[in-house]
Amino acid sequence: MKILIILGSTRPNRESEKVGRWVLREIQKRAEFDAELIDLRDWPLPFYNEVAGPESINGNYSIELAKKWEAKVGEADGFIIIAPEYNHGYPAVLKNALDYTYISWNKKPVSFVSYGGSAGGARSVEQLRQVAVELQMAPLHKGVHIPMIWTAWDETGNKLKDELAWSRRLVPLFDELAWWTKALKTGRQQG
Ligand SMILES: Cc1cc2nc3c(=O)[nH]c(=O)nc-3n(C[C@H](O)[C@H](O)[C@H](O)COP(=O)(O)O)c2cc1C
Repeated sequence: MKILIILGSTRPNRESEKVGRWVLREIQKRAEFDAELIDLRDWPLPFYNEVAGPESINGNYSIELAKKWEAKVGEADGFIIIAPEYNHGYPAVLKNALDYTYISWNKKPVSFVSYGGSAGGARSVEQLRQVAVELQMAPLHKGVHIPMIWTAWDETGNKLKDELAWSRRLVPLFDELAWWTKALKTGRQQG
């Protein structure tokens, strides 16, 4: 089951990369998943500026990168979004990436690992769940939300201070994602 882990921010000293690399390390311990980290820095899509929505233009984007993005998202059976909280919502760069395709998100599950200040990015995730429903995705129940992310790292700056405890919280999220990914993949294959 192919899972894309999407980093939700692109700014220079972002935390999403460290969170995403930790989630990747943990999911790679699970044989049922084939996971890939997606860095939106590698997908510098301009603000959506096509003549109609992605479903209506049916792949006829004015830019090549958008065609490649739709194909990349289309490879996946499920997603984990690494979600920061910006002003009680999600970063614009993440929403833009979500807006760029429609059909490639449809009927696929998405889990969220978030972080931020006191709410651990939970408010961003609540908004993302609404967006996911409109994209005909299945936003999943289990979430991991890391508060005060800037204090969460050990002296190396790359490892969570309490990594074992946080990694344990990923287990039910992965279990749930596996169930839904398999169920929806079967459903899509059966039409
Ligand atoms: C524009 C902006 C707005 C933010 N707004 C919030 C907020 O509303 N609530 C919160 O808990 N943290 C907020 N923060 C703090 C971020 O959650 C924190 O800086 C986090 O590391 C951002 O993710 P990033 O490092 O991957 O960019 C904000 C940060 C930025 C840059």
